[in-house]
Amino acid sequence: MNRRAFLSTAIKVFFTTAGIITGTIALLFSYPFKIKKRAVKYFPVMDEAEIPRRGVKTVTFKYKRQNRVLNTRAFVVNHNDIVYVLSPVCTHLGCLVNWHRRKHEFLCPCHGGRYDIEGKVLGGPPPAPLTRLPYRVSEGKLYIGLKV
Ligand code: FES
Repeated sequence: MNRRAFLSTAIKVFFTTAGIITGTIALLFSYPFKIKKRAVKYFPVMDEAEIPRRGVKTVTFKYKRQNRVLNTRAFVVNHNDIVYVLSPVCTHLGCLVNWHRRKHEFLCPCHGGRYDIEGKVLGGPPPAPLTRLPYRVSEGKLYIGLKV
């Protein structure tokens, strides 16, 4: 390669690289990276009297997101006299876990993830515990909060 060909190639590489960098920067500044923060809305799932006195109760309920009615479920848990609500979404890849009463564990059917009654990981690939969902009890009903 002679000097002229080398300079020509170097100039082409320089301007191509500069164009790619400039285009990437322009895209980064023009793309709306603001992820719309979703508000927590509360949905009634059961009567207060139905909150388990001990153990886990699976509740299914409907909620509305962007004019669509969706079904979901959650686990209402009373463990050591502390009530909390766990999301059924496995923290590995998002499959829905099930409560196994005899084993006293939440089991994920996809890759064998296991969680204890508090949602802590016991085994398998999940990187984090099950998410605790906000809830409140009002006027005799238990409401579970979801970001919609
Ligand atoms: S999605 Fe639950 S273990 Fe993989």
